[in-house]
Amino acid sequence: MRWRAVRETNLLSIFFIFVLSLESCSTGEKICNQAVVERTQQKSGFHRDLITYIKWDILSSFGEHYNLLDCQLLLVEKFPSGVYIDPDQLKNEVEFGGPEVLFKESVNIEALAHHSSSNEMLVFPKITIDSKMDILKANITIPIHLRYHQAAKDAKFASVLLPPPQVLGRCPNGVAFPTDRCGSDPVQAPCDAKRLSTCDWIALKLRSKDQSESRMSLVLQVPIGQTEHSLPIIALTVFSTMAGCVLTLWNAIVTPF
Ligand SMILES: *[C@@H]1O[C@H](CO)[C@@H](O)[C@H](O)[C@H]1NC(C)=O
Repeated sequence: MRWRAVRETNLLSIFFIFVLSLESCSTGEKICNQAVVERTQQKSGFHRDLITYIKWDILSSFGEHYNLLDCQLLLVEKFPSGVYIDPDQLKNEVEFGGPEVLFKESVNIEALAHHSSSNEMLVFPKITIDSKMDILKANITIPIHLRYHQAAKDAKFASVLLPPPQVLGRCPNGVAFPTDRCGSDPVQAPCDAKRLSTCDWIALKLRSKDQSESRMSLVLQVPIGQTEHSLPIIALTVFSTMAGCVLTLWNAIVTPF
């Protein structure tokens, strides 16, 4: 009985996918404001690199009058409290091709995860242009640091979920498709990292290369201390501190002046 039910829902979903694909074929139009995003991480431990690769199909947003060289991308990243970004480190990386960033609030890089709040950051990446295909690309590396998490019982790792960024695009002289066709109002955001003026941006619809949502969010595993270990660790710390004191005192007394 259960098998039959499963088969029926499968058939039903295949039917729906079929209908949906028919519909997109018949309208013959590209989906509006489309960008492909892929996120991966490199390195391990508490200091990692967050890699975000973006491809924006300009023809899915602009009909005419755009100049690819003027087009820009902007990522709005909302990092959870379990991680932080070091503003000084990012500033130093700008001259080596790193993105320019703006922070919404100041970052406390020393706080523990459970004493921190999430952090919002605007990322203006360096872009490369594929003019044959009218595609704008950016490959962004952001060094992220995991915060120390509160020790827990029975757990060796805590998970930190990094949601995908909001991605905005802009071509200053381009004529965007009208709102009634693409259904999204422009978003106001700073024009560049100098924050002098505000521009209209288009919110891009993200999809991953293989259509799955899971490739866009990342789950980071953070090693955490275990409460069962705290007693031996405290004992060991107290013991080694006392041993150090005794040794220093002994040296001071025994060593002739
Ligand atoms: C993006 O940059 C990372 C780190 O430099 C590199 O490993 C990766 O291959 C690049 N991805 C693409 C698609 O160029």
